Amino acid sequence: MHLICPICQLPLKLSESTYRCKRHHSYDVSKEGYVNLLPVQKKNSKNPGDSKEMINARRLFLESGYYAPLVDHLIKTIEHKENALLLDAGCGEGYYGAQIKQHINDLDILGFDISKEAIKKAAKKYKDQFFFIAGMNEIPIADQSVSTYLTIFSPIEASEINRILADRGQVIIVSAGPNHMREIAEEIYESYIPHDYDPSLVLSSQFDLINKEIITFTITLEEKDERKSMLQMTPYYWSANEKTLGKILAKNLTITCDFKINEFRKK
Ligand SMILES: C[S@@+](CC[C@H](N)C(=O)[O-])C[C@H]1O[C@@H](n2cnc3c(N)ncnc32)[C@H](O)[C@@H]1O
Repeated sequence: MHLICPICQLPLKLSESTYRCKRHHSYDVSKEGYVNLLPVQKKNSKNPGDSKEMINARRLFLESGYYAPLVDHLIKTIEHKENALLLDAGCGEGYYGAQIKQHINDLDILGFDISKEAIKKAAKKYKDQFFFIAGMNEIPIADQSVSTYLTIFSPIEASEINRILADRGQVIIVSAGPNHMREIAEEIYESYIPHDYDPSLVLSSQFDLINKEIITFTITLEEKDERKSMLQMTPYYWSANEKTLGKILAKNLTITCDFKINEFRKK
């Protein structure tokens, strides 16, 4: 399975429903089927990562299928190789891994996130992927075992990616394109500042950028519930005042979805 102990980095083996290393550190598999590999002493807060409300909102919104063009693009980008392992880093409630698995059935998919709520929800629903709780800066996966490292709107840590990625593996980073959800930001802020995050800044010392694409489309959210779940999965919901939120929720919104998809390989 490629899991390693988050305390001593020795391989973990499953026996009955507990993962153990040779130094007798042990991690029980939960009733939902995930394993918590984030020891208390490595946690910076009590409940790190996205909250239950954000996770529930993301599940509702993603399941309505609005981001299908992004999924299609990912499926074309992911390499199909024998014995391939895809790691969905910061997987949230597991939607993208599930979509990928439907199209590339023989791919093994592991997902991890620092949010316990996210992993619990993912493991409860998606039984053909394996989920664990962990942080980006110490990923409990053996060296060079991942063929595709995927991360969608989640933080990245170059040295860990470099350690766990196989030499010929691929790294796919999805982040916000310049105009992602522009219309919502325009309702909240006086002037719009395009997103300009560039993952190459973090990765370029260890990885080469081999492909860069932007996919842009618009969606119209006619149902108030859909608008609410879209808002709740973004930081906007938690920073805007009630009046502004009421205004956004009251009307049909056509929203720009703008995704930057960057693919990297090891140098
Ligand atoms: C914007 S959400 C994206 C979730 C998922 N990739 C998606 O697109 O639906 C970012 C995710 O990163 C997780 N996250 C934030 N910091 C993290 C860290 N240091 N290690 C692991 N996961 C982290 C959050 O809990 C959250 O689920």
